[in-house]
Amino acid sequence: MLERALKTIPLGSQTFSKSKTAYPEGVSPHFIKKGEGSHIWDVDGNEYIDFVNGLASITLGYNDPDVTEAVKAQLDEGTIFSLPHEIEIKVAEKIVEMVPCAEMVRFGKNGSDATAGAIRLTRAYTKRDHVAVCGYHGWQDWYIGSTSRNLGVPSSVRDLTHSFTYNDLDSLDQLFKGLPDQISAVIIEPMNTIEPNTGFLEGVKRLALKNGAILIFDETITGFRYANGGAQEYFGVSPDLAIFGKGMANGYPVSAVTGRAEIMKLMEEVFFSFTFGGETLSLAAALTTMTKLQQEQVVKTLWEQGGKIKKGVNSLIKKHNLENVLSITGKDCWSFLIFKDTGIYSEWELRTLFLQEVFVRGVLTLGTHNMSYAHSDEDISKLLKVYDEVFGVIKDVVEKKSLDIRLQTKPLVPLFKIR
Ligand SMILES: Cc1ncc(COP(=O)(O)O)c(C=O)c1O
Repeated sequence: MLERALKTIPLGSQTFSKSKTAYPEGVSPHFIKKGEGSHIWDVDGNEYIDFVNGLASITLGYNDPDVTEAVKAQLDEGTIFSLPHEIEIKVAEKIVEMVPCAEMVRFGKNGSDATAGAIRLTRAYTKRDHVAVCGYHGWQDWYIGSTSRNLGVPSSVRDLTHSFTYNDLDSLDQLFKGLPDQISAVIIEPMNTIEPNTGFLEGVKRLALKNGAILIFDETITGFRYANGGAQEYFGVSPDLAIFGKGMANGYPVSAVTGRAEIMKLMEEVFFSFTFGGETLSLAAALTTMTKLQQEQVVKTLWEQGGKIKKGVNSLIKKHNLENVLSITGKDCWSFLIFKDTGIYSEWELRTLFLQEVFVRGVLTLGTHNMSYAHSDEDISKLLKVYDEVFGVIKDVVEKKSLDIRLQTKPLVPLFKIR
């Protein structure tokens, strides 16, 4: 099927992270047929417990009955109309109710729509062109130009985006000093792999304020996952604007720019407008997902189940003496296995071996645990049993220097490194 796809679809996928650049050829599933709860089935009928979960967009579980029912009910009335629909107001009101910084809301389809819209808004509001970034913020020119995957982005655009280092306030301060009164926005993932040092997020907020820049928290992943009100609620630091995406609607395509009304009102003048903005099926899914978050212990469950994984992985690392090869980081609801260069084998060689070995044992992960409400104790036990075996393989390969014999595919090459 991959061969067939490659004839008509460049890369055979719409998304780098779902493509053969992330799933090593010959040892990975490449196409999925269906999902239910925490499990998915590939086109060959193999079943996996899924810890990727639609790139962290599935927070309740695949085909959640409440979400599916809400979408079906909306489908009977129509998906998109010639004028706005009341569901847009209901979801905007729900976000304002749940998210600390939210006073007004506009919707996009992907996280990238929302980050790009927010950046244009801050440029309009401050009348400044430059942007300071920390994390991953989507595929569009304004951001991707600042990474090594900047093919096709004009240099005049690339010159406007500047990266600073997480937990290094001085690196942000230096940007402000180098570009006085020119930086419109500081956009940051409040956290991904590394814990913020005490006072770091507060310091970013203080520096942005002092220099007249707008602070944007990119909560595309942390939103509706760290807490019902996102990482801003969890860490108690409220930005001027925030972005939500993936976790909003249990896998339906909708994202949001939200924040202080005084800034958001300028969205009336800024061009942030597209045909499928306000598409009702995704908004029905969003309303049901967020309501379920309020009514049930969804976030608490993501943390509890993810916590069992972190604890289990740490003891397996100890058991197999893999401290120099592996670690686990991130918060319980979104944790990361970090592979280290061992001197003999690179991080990417070991990661590829890991993927080969977990896939064949019925676990789908790219090294992250994007927890969903559907992950059961049985899923966690199975994952840890698989890790026990796979960590044993890794240990053996490192000790015997036998990767060439064991690895049945070419090692992956990093796309670019952000996290
Ligand atoms: C923090 C963050 N911001 C923005 C994006 C872009 O979202 P999308 O891929 O939906 O455009 C992502 C996607 O991975 C993300 O993780």
